[in-house]
Amino acid sequence: MSSIDRADPVIMGHILSQHRELHAQLVAVRACLAGSGRCVAELRAALESLRDHLRSHFRQEEMGGFLEESIARMPRLSAAARTVMGEHPALLAELDALIGSLEKADSAAAWDQTAAAAERFAQHLLDHERNENAVVQEGYNEDLGLD
Ligand SMILES: [Fe+2]
Ligand SMILES: [Fe+2]
Repeated sequence: MSSIDRADPVIMGHILSQHRELHAQLVAVRACLAGSGRCVAELRAALESLRDHLRSHFRQEEMGGFLEESIARMPRLSAAARTVMGEHPALLAELDALIGSLEKADSAAAWDQTAAAAERFAQHLLDHERNENAVVQEGYNEDLGLD
């Protein structure tokens, strides 16, 4: 069967557009962190919204046959795909802990710690999505001869 007439690029496009959306939410988180003062309420709102998006995004990736398609096309990607999927629980736990720590971010020193933890989390999530995009794109590009 030709890969061109299959619907997978639709799934992939959908997931990639969610990645762009998550990226925009991280930009909002970072904008708050880059300000001069503490922005506990804004950061909490941004992180809680991100958590909702992330939960449903991860679920879709896990159920949607999203990475499986890449693996079917290129079995050698299977270890890399398993590795990125395996990062989901830790990312959600890190985000939950971060949201929990906002309660205590009531001093300048505590805020600095929370802000640093938020920046680390943003970096972990960006790394995760980038690795995921790489697995998917590798699977599809080689299959389509676009490499
Ligand atoms: Fe993911
Ligand atoms: Fe993702």
